[in-house]
Amino acid sequence: IPAPGATTQLSSDGAGVAEAARLIRAGACVAFPTETVYGLGADATDAEAVAGIFAAKARPRFNPLIAHLPDRAAAEAEGRFDAFALRLAEAFWPGPLTLVVPATGGTRVCDLARAGLPSVALRVPSNPLARDLLAAVGRPVAAPSANRSGRVSPTRADHVLADLDGRIAAVLDGGETPVGVESTVIACLSGPPRLLRPGGITRAAILSVLGTALDASAPDAAARPVGPGLLASHYAPRARLRLDATAIEPDEAVLLFGASRPAGIAQARAVLNLSPRGDLAEAAARLFAALRDLDAYGAATIAVSPIPADGLGEAILDRLGRAAAPR
Ligand code: TXA
Ligand code: MG
Repeated sequence: IPAPGATTQLSSDGAGVAEAARLIRAGACVAFPTETVYGLGADATDAEAVAGIFAAKARPRFNPLIAHLPDRAAAEAEGRFDAFALRLAEAFWPGPLTLVVPATGGTRVCDLARAGLPSVALRVPSNPLARDLLAAVGRPVAAPSANRSGRVSPTRADHVLADLDGRIAAVLDGGETPVGVESTVIACLSGPPRLLRPGGITRAAILSVLGTALDASAPDAAARPVGPGLLASHYAPRARLRLDATAIEPDEAVLLFGASRPAGIAQARAVLNLSPRGDLAEAAARLFAALRDLDAYGAATIAVSPIPADGLGEAILDRLGRAAAPR
């Protein structure tokens, strides 16, 4: 349900958090910062409120949402955690990890938020504003990234407004989100855990805690939701993306990493470096803002210099790969 009129900007003080919580409890959609990206939150127990998220984002309803909770105890009331899930929650919550687990019989997360699945995606974010907000709401909060479906995720309140102004009740402004890529999504449903989406917690960190290999067998098509976050074309700027570019064509916008200086860079329309010192965490934090900024130059193509695949590079390359996919 698009909110009538303009979207209210709420400040990051107690009054702003209280008003955001009041709006969510009343069934409205409110964008709020997490440590990864801004989420578009609504009461996960209220199907009408959750329908507002799908409408504001123009998101297909078959794509399930993550339910956000203030702490582990609240999360464990919504899903059944096996030994792997418990270990991961213990190690990485609060933080940029989402666990997909079987929903409890008594879960309050509504069917629409779960896209009718018997599982539920749960996350306890570490951002202090997010935690205060979730505690004040006192119910699970469904929140996908606060962008139009298929577009680049927002890491600042003005990114949220660029996509959703007038379509949501409010945005709680908490400045820039430090991680910059979405949470790592891991399914703990039966047998070894499966990595569904690389994100803010690296594969190496997950493996060191699990002490077992991740399930790498071909996913069971019937059990797997087909969501835009898992589809080829997603996170897309207007411009085409050209990955692993070692030479620049005239008039391209250029996204650099580290010390690389591709041939022909003098002819570029615009150049941004994700991390001149070659730090993948810094690059992840800047990625989505950089894509938006380069898009504003109006180049037909953004050329991206090579980025290492280790650590947070896996999540960065995942997002760039989806942004580069044919639409
Ligand atoms: O960092 C994040 O995860 C951000 C912040 C706001 O928390 N949220 C986010 O939500 O990225 P979204 O909706 O853009 O991505 C959620 C992903 C989707 O790929 C969705 O398909 C998957 O989680 N997902 C949700 N529930 C699932 C389930 N029951 N089974 C499998 N995948 C699920
Ligand atoms: Mg998203």
